Amino acid sequence: MDYIIQFHEITKRFGHVVALDKVSLEVKKGEFLSLLGPSGCGKTTLLRTCAGLEQPTKGQVLLEGQDITHMPAYKRPVNMVFQRWALFPHKTVAENIAFGLTIKKTPRPDIIRQVRAMLELVKLEGYENRFPKQLSGGQSQRVALARALVMQPKVLLLDEPLGSLDLKLRQEMQIELINIHKRLGTTFIYVTHDQEEALTMSDRVVVMNHGHIVQIGPPAQIYQKPNSVFAAQFIGQTILFQGQVSAKNGESCQVATDELIITCPTGSDLHIGQDVFVSVRPERVRLNDTPLVDLENRLEGSIVNTIFKGPAVYYQIEAPGGRIITVQQHLEQDIPLYEAGSNVFVGWSSKNSQILLQ
Ligand SMILES: Nc1ncnc2c1ncn2[C@@H]1O[C@H](COP(=O)(O)OP(=O)(O)O)[C@@H](O)[C@H]1O
Ligand SMILES: [Mg+2]
Repeated sequence: MDYIIQFHEITKRFGHVVALDKVSLEVKKGEFLSLLGPSGCGKTTLLRTCAGLEQPTKGQVLLEGQDITHMPAYKRPVNMVFQRWALFPHKTVAENIAFGLTIKKTPRPDIIRQVRAMLELVKLEGYENRFPKQLSGGQSQRVALARALVMQPKVLLLDEPLGSLDLKLRQEMQIELINIHKRLGTTFIYVTHDQEEALTMSDRVVVMNHGHIVQIGPPAQIYQKPNSVFAAQFIGQTILFQGQVSAKNGESCQVATDELIITCPTGSDLHIGQDVFVSVRPERVRLNDTPLVDLENRLEGSIVNTIFKGPAVYYQIEAPGGRIITVQQHLEQDIPLYEAGSNVFVGWSSKNSQILLQ
């Protein structure tokens, strides 16, 4: 396998804080990899060890198989884009983009050509003579991106670069970043705490928590097969049950919870009495006025809240025992919504019950 970056058992301590705890990760050449996790889980620290801005307490960073752990930042063929664009306020857009090339004493005609190519890439043609204060947030971030990419880094590190943009602009920039990545083929390591952003953009997502890697995989796999309660809850919504395995046969097993007995696909080495969690995605649940007799898992409840979101509606439903579960229904046609107080039947098939061990 062609790895561009390998993190080998990276530990980073800040005094008593263990920001990274023996993190090992291999980044493939040309991929768009996201580091996803809650604030403080170590994403920025891992990115900074790659850039050479942070020295690991233990472990190695390899670039194309070569140990660069002690290589100074300026010698590394990587560039970083930060959440807050640190543009030079008294330089124009073109001068900002050209800055790194000027330092490298690149011949002037080459600088002009490369800056022009970057302006085209980030769709800022015609803005070359503006100053940063004359740009919107999104435009400033494009300049920051162009300034990093003009150096033709082997790896581009992006630390929540869209974090300060509003939702619509963020979504537009996500698609543009995907296109830029496709066009250039540069390896992107992208930090975000926004699960939707990570799912949208990445070839692979690295889920982190408390200085550890929890799970690595393509977006669909991370969403459909979370390996832990943390991953299931952090990526998307989940209805979570806690219980014990109460029966097992060939294809299915049953988990007894406080609310109901849930039929699930059988995991490999489950035993009767084992404590487990069951995760059900809210969009995999059906709602009906009458019992859903074709589904293995059924509940009856009453609607507490109806939350209309446009393409989907979320119902909060009080199940027997008082537990509130949230169910998502896609609105394929204009059907009347259930109102608070309505009695409803909830059901899902056994294959949509996912057993999690931790
Ligand atoms: N320079 C520093 N000095 C002390 N603690 C730090 C420093 N940088 C990061 N930390 C701590 O390390 C942990 C991980 O931080 P960080 O990598 O910034 O997380 P994230 O980017 O995922 O939000 C946090 O507990 C943070 O407070
Ligand atoms: Mg951070």
